[in-house]
Amino acid sequence: MRRGVIILLFSLLPMTAWAEAHVVRGQDIFEGRCQACHQTPKPKALSMSQWRAVLQTMQVRMQQKSMDPLSDQEMADVLLYLAEAR
Ligand code: HEC
Repeated sequence: MRRGVIILLFSLLPMTAWAEAHVVRGQDIFEGRCQACHQTPKPKALSMSQWRAVLQTMQVRMQQKSMDPLSDQEMADVLLYLAEAR
């Protein structure tokens, strides 16, 4: 029984570290790339569904300015950061 709990705990550790790394990366992208054009509101200012919609519009805005839009991975990391920050 106890052994099962220990195995469970260890199997969760890498997942947590993995998620944390992506949250940190998401914050870097949010604070770095998004402020190229304007200040960004606090993560809590918008709901997650609002963020998803705004981020899609921002992809278009970046393309209109000949900037590279976020990759799928960058987008996922930013959404993870925004979800964690509430
Ligand atoms: C190429 C310039 C540019 C970049 C880069 C950019 N934005 Fe924007 N953003 C705009 C413009 C222009 C608007 C004004 C509303 C519109 O035209 O859609 C705006 C508006 C917004 C708004 C307000 C939306 C509303 O409906 O009031 C939010 C929130 C936002 N941006 C978040 C972001 C985030 C998060 C990023 C990074 C992923 C980002 N922006 C990157 C140009 C940019």
